Amino acid sequence: MMPAIGLDIGSMTTKAVVVEGASVRARVMIPTGSVPRRAAGQAYREALRQAGLQGEPPAVVTGYGRLDVPFAARRVTEITCHAVGARFLFPEARTVVDVGGQDSKVIRLSTDGRVLDFVMNDRCAAGTGRFLEVMAAALGLSLEELGPASARATRELTISSLCTVFAESEVISNLAAGEAREDIVAALHRAIARRVHGLASRVGLEPEVVFTGGVALNAGVVRELERLVGRRLLVPAEPQFTGALGAALLAETGGTP
Ligand SMILES: Nc1ncnc2c1ncn2[C@@H]1O[C@H](COP(=O)(O)OP(=O)(O)OP(=O)(O)O)[C@@H](O)[C@H]1O
Ligand SMILES: [Mg+2]
Repeated sequence: MMPAIGLDIGSMTTKAVVVEGASVRARVMIPTGSVPRRAAGQAYREALRQAGLQGEPPAVVTGYGRLDVPFAARRVTEITCHAVGARFLFPEARTVVDVGGQDSKVIRLSTDGRVLDFVMNDRCAAGTGRFLEVMAAALGLSLEELGPASARATRELTISSLCTVFAESEVISNLAAGEAREDIVAALHRAIARRVHGLASRVGLEPEVVFTGGVALNAGVVRELERLVGRRLLVPAEPQFTGALGAALLAETGGTP
């Protein structure tokens, strides 16, 4: 089979994946920045270079920035691409939860992998990766520190707002009141997990549940969501690449899922 390339132009990061047969030959992630088409071109060229490919294979493009990519051979929705990517990694997947920088979505799949239903919460940073970035900054922690910090929590606090602005002031007043950072982080993770779980309840949560997107790298959010769902979640080793992987697989087969 010929190598094929998929691109996912997300609100925060642009991902490119090159597949050949059933294996990934290259994977590139760069910040999307303010000009999605520039990030797309850069990720495309870099992925082909890493894969050692000559020529310009047609790209299947997904993500919120996909309309801004003039060289796209085909544009496919994020729902379809995440479904295809998640099923490739976990054939038993029946639900896909994706929490990225700026939206969260939950997709319900049939046993044979067709999309039955989905919900999406977009255009608002509430309870997404961007929300966590703002809170991490307010707490003086890096994104990577959030998960480990929340594992050390000892006191159950509550953050009642998921609006970034209000939640940030709750974080600041908790700090001023002398609350421990790890307890505040755990409360933020619970708030996000509750929101994602609420969204998921609208489509129904069939096992197995796959968790994708950058927020799946946060072990604290994974743990809180597992608690609410009442079972383990399947998290890909590289959760941010799931949509781009799906796009590459669609480029390879030339078909619809
Ligand atoms: N190492 C990490 N640890 C914890 N969280 C991380 C890490 N790296 C990235 N993230 C989170 O992932 C988010 C970005 O996720 P992702 O790349 O899936 O977004 P996106 O696809 O650009 O956005 P969207 O799908 O909403 O358009 C960041 O905002 C951050 O919260
Ligand atoms: Mg995304």
